Amino acid sequence: MCGIVGYIGAKEKKNILLDGLKELEYRGYDSAGIAIIENGELKHFKAVGKLKNLRDKTKKYSSSGFGVAIGHTRWATHGKPTELNAHPHLGEYSFVVHNGIIENYQEIKNELEDVGVNFLSQTDTETIVHLFEKNNTNLNNPFHAFKKTISKLNGAYATLLITEAEPESIFFAKNGSPMLIGFNGDEIYFASSDTPIIGKATEVYYLEDGEYGYAKNGEVKLFDSIGIEKEIIKKPLATDKKMAQKDGFRFFMEKEIYEQSQVMNDCMIGRVLDNRIEFEELDSNLFRDINSIKICACGTSYHSALTGAYLLERLAKIPTQVEIASEFRYKEPLLQKDTLFITISQSGETADTLEALKMANRAGLKSLTICNVDNSSIVRESSSAILTRAGIEKGVASTKAFATQTMVLWMLTLYIAELKGNISKDRLDDELHAIRKIPKALIVTDRLHDKIHRLSKRYLHGHGFFFIGRDIFFPLALEGALKLKEISYLHAEGYPAGEMKHGPIALADSELFTIALMPKSLHYDKIKSNVEELSARDATILAISPEEFELADDFIKTKYSSHAMLEFFEMMVITQLLALEISIRLGNDVDMPRNLAKSVTVE
Ligand code: AGP
Repeated sequence: MCGIVGYIGAKEKKNILLDGLKELEYRGYDSAGIAIIENGELKHFKAVGKLKNLRDKTKKYSSSGFGVAIGHTRWATHGKPTELNAHPHLGEYSFVVHNGIIENYQEIKNELEDVGVNFLSQTDTETIVHLFEKNNTNLNNPFHAFKKTISKLNGAYATLLITEAEPESIFFAKNGSPMLIGFNGDEIYFASSDTPIIGKATEVYYLEDGEYGYAKNGEVKLFDSIGIEKEIIKKPLATDKKMAQKDGFRFFMEKEIYEQSQVMNDCMIGRVLDNRIEFEELDSNLFRDINSIKICACGTSYHSALTGAYLLERLAKIPTQVEIASEFRYKEPLLQKDTLFITISQSGETADTLEALKMANRAGLKSLTICNVDNSSIVRESSSAILTRAGIEKGVASTKAFATQTMVLWMLTLYIAELKGNISKDRLDDELHAIRKIPKALIVTDRLHDKIHRLSKRYLHGHGFFFIGRDIFFPLALEGALKLKEISYLHAEGYPAGEMKHGPIALADSELFTIALMPKSLHYDKIKSNVEELSARDATILAISPEEFELADDFIKTKYSSHAMLEFFEMMVITQLLALEISIRLGNDVDMPRNLAKSVTVE
């Protein structure tokens, strides 16, 4: 998730920007930059890596007098983390910073290049500043030019633009990505969230989607999505920085569960098109002469890999094997060159996964990674990479990374299926229709969260939990069990529902809690009879299903039943919230569970 700060006023601007960006570090970034106009003169600085590098670069610089200033921390989505790709992006006489993804940037970029505009970076953002200057050349009115520019953008953006053509203004627009305006007398602040302006501004206005405008001479002109000027209703600004970083949630994990709907949109943008899947970062030759796939990962990433394997074989008709990286490394695996080696990793730094990837590379296999951190070791070691665009994941127990990994695998399956001619147009349309519903299916309602909060009080003891499911709900059962184990420290295991009778059912009694994933759209009758066998032996059953199940001791009714992946993502949120609420009741540190690290960079 990128971070944005802006300031208009007479205070020293460099430190306001750098201190503000520091407060946004928790969002994760790989480069940063600032741009300032004062006395009509443009100054800018950029640096790759941590903010310290940018502070070092600006050590000798200090602004003075009235001016406008913008700053940005970048989480790479388009283009590697380099200085050229860092924001602010420069036109001839203007600078822009942007958070989000411009879905139609390639079309805009092509039009601009056709009229001779030179692009320095690989980013979607740079199109904004060049399009603005082209419009300003035609209109000779910076605000009208900005308005026309924004109207052309499709996708998610929170953007600030400053220009020598109007050196006392900051132009702003918000759609899909967060941004707020802070006020303190005649000083105006902009930020992606409140933490950068706590202690500086006294009042705040949270921009709504579609709103845009400009700040000048201590006041803000605000317009709604249809161009009508709007009155700004300011609110007092929060004062607790830690709480602000969590945006009011109790834990980062809770916040990240709620973020899944939004980050899923980011993950899909520019990839889920009207009638097909597109990965601009992939060369279709990657799949030439590939007859099988091997996916290698650890922990939660291994669970998304297992889910992906079901989809790849069923829809893309490509034989797929999944390996736990720490096992793969020492099993003397047979590796063939017609096998595509896929790694999955949130951090991109997991030692076992990285070493497995190096083994595959040494054996001459083509490799692809599905990762959340650009320029990480695993990304750099892979021939190709698909970024999940989940933004920084602070909770040690992975949630939104798992969700976006699974989505990328589903999109990749459809991409390969079409490439190899293994899917009918009707089936592809059905899959795309379901995919488009996923962000909505991930929305956490108060009603659901309250129900799970109440239910969780019954599951604080017992001699263990079984999460059971069939087909893709088996890896989801594994993931649900891992979430619970990780943050509640209660024993839980995921099991294929059909396997319970081959031993584990011996554990069944009233103190054994079974969380049964019972989708309507996939093998419902089979899973139902497995659960009935457990209930007959007095196991305590929490059934999660769109269909009432009278033998359940507890029941969470789900909404979706038309497509297995819709049911998958809806049940995923329920298992995440269940683990969260049980852990909170037990008084555990949800974000930093004992004995665990966010990234296991050692064997
Ligand atoms: C998941 O909740 C855990 N934090 C852990 O299993 C994690 O998924 C595993 O260590 C792999 O990490 P990676 O995705 O960064 O490679």
